[in-house]
Amino acid sequence: MMLLFSVGCGLTTEAAAPNDAITRASNAAVRAAGDPTRPVYHFRPPANWMNDPNGPIFHRGYYHMFYQLNPYGDNWGNMHWGHARSRDLVRWEHLPIALGPSKEAGEDHVFSGCAAINGKGQPMIIYTSIGRGKGADVYAEQWAALGDDDLISWQKHPANPVLSEKLHGHVKVYDWRDPFVFEVGTDRRAVRGASGGHALPFMVCGGNLNHGKGGQAVVNLYQAENAEMTQWKFLGVLFTHPDAAVKNIECPNFFKLGDKWVLVISPHRKVEYFVGSFDAAKHQFTPEQRGVMDYGHYYAPNCLEDPSGRRIMWGWVNGFKAGRGWNGCLTLPRVLTLGADGEPRQEPVPELKKLRGEAFSRAGIYLSDMTNVLSELKGDALEIEAELEPGSARVCGLRLRQSENGQQAVTIAYDGSQLDVGGAKAPFKLAENERTLKLRVFLDKSVLEVYANGRACVTRVISAGEKDLGVGLFANGGSATVRSLNAWRMNAIW
Ligand code: FRU
Repeated sequence: MMLLFSVGCGLTTEAAAPNDAITRASNAAVRAAGDPTRPVYHFRPPANWMNDPNGPIFHRGYYHMFYQLNPYGDNWGNMHWGHARSRDLVRWEHLPIALGPSKEAGEDHVFSGCAAINGKGQPMIIYTSIGRGKGADVYAEQWAALGDDDLISWQKHPANPVLSEKLHGHVKVYDWRDPFVFEVGTDRRAVRGASGGHALPFMVCGGNLNHGKGGQAVVNLYQAENAEMTQWKFLGVLFTHPDAAVKNIECPNFFKLGDKWVLVISPHRKVEYFVGSFDAAKHQFTPEQRGVMDYGHYYAPNCLEDPSGRRIMWGWVNGFKAGRGWNGCLTLPRVLTLGADGEPRQEPVPELKKLRGEAFSRAGIYLSDMTNVLSELKGDALEIEAELEPGSARVCGLRLRQSENGQQAVTIAYDGSQLDVGGAKAPFKLAENERTLKLRVFLDKSVLEVYANGRACVTRVISAGEKDLGVGLFANGGSATVRSLNAWRMNAIW
């Protein structure tokens, strides 16, 4: 435990870490480990606070995940980049903290960003550096760090800042942060191997142009001017949020999916996507469709493209109770595709099937104004696949974490126009050609992730009594049929 903790929290790598910080973090790890509400198969740090996933990248046979971490407490602050890697997207190995603020250089926080291999073949992180006492809303710079071949140890780049305010000329960008580098062109290897000449990568950053007054929340576009990715030019505003109520945009992700381009943004409310076309030569993105990525406790997602070309995305699951020695985890990794209707689809990566333990299966359960408690299926770490025919029921669905007396439960309820997951509501309607509601449910202690027909996602932080482990099916105001239900006890990854 101590070894994992000291490596995972990176404090062993920070010679200057004061003893009381080590003791506090160590206590937090012990408290976190004993907490029955803590997820067991979702990604999270060994202890303390985490928020955004940062710079996910596949490199030399490993998926790497970095993330916003406060190594000193279970609340937001002292932002560092935590680090872990995985061979299979299922089990993760914690690694030393990748980046912390360079206090001697006036840096207070290492905010969100991305990782990439530059045109010289060097692993590189580009992130937002927040300087001491200036305020993240009015002043930020984009800094870089260079990594070793295994992405384990990182050094701040001598060329920092690699992007400064000066780039914008007379345009003042507030809350300027969260760089995301992307490439245009089909042959990634050609870009990677380039010694300079062609296909220099682009970058997007979030912010706003009117100090958060609304109506000018933007995503700005940049392009590298050298293979080292240390010099950049500002190409202009790629996207202005169409809603006047939106004050700022955080964590933009911009990538090609199928034959379209997708912009995913975190606008201090539910995470949104815009699907459209991108004319790289004209620096123009034309959105055609928009929607919400996840209707629950989900924010600041980040993604990578893996060697098989899959676009895989993780979001930050937030909304946990404070003061438990830990706070925050990531959603399961989700594969994004584009449906025939042009809307993104999200499914958890198939690799997660490895975690399935003891199985439970039922078929043809007819429900009429009742709840059917599945006496053999109990648990707080489960995957459930259920196919429901809503029939005449006004509302039907599942009850999880049900108490013995049936009075307490977290419900997943479909009423013909929306999916309500423990109080988080997603507009959702079965299409003409969809007869059944196909739910994929991942219950992991206090985290519930629900996928409906691949189209709607809701991630919810729930609270339940430690002994409330029942699972039930229900139909109210009429009848419904559960065509099939397959469930598995899920094994822990930690
Ligand atoms: C999003 C965010 C980012 C920022 C980071 C700081 O949750 O506010 O914009 O870089 O978190 O932790």
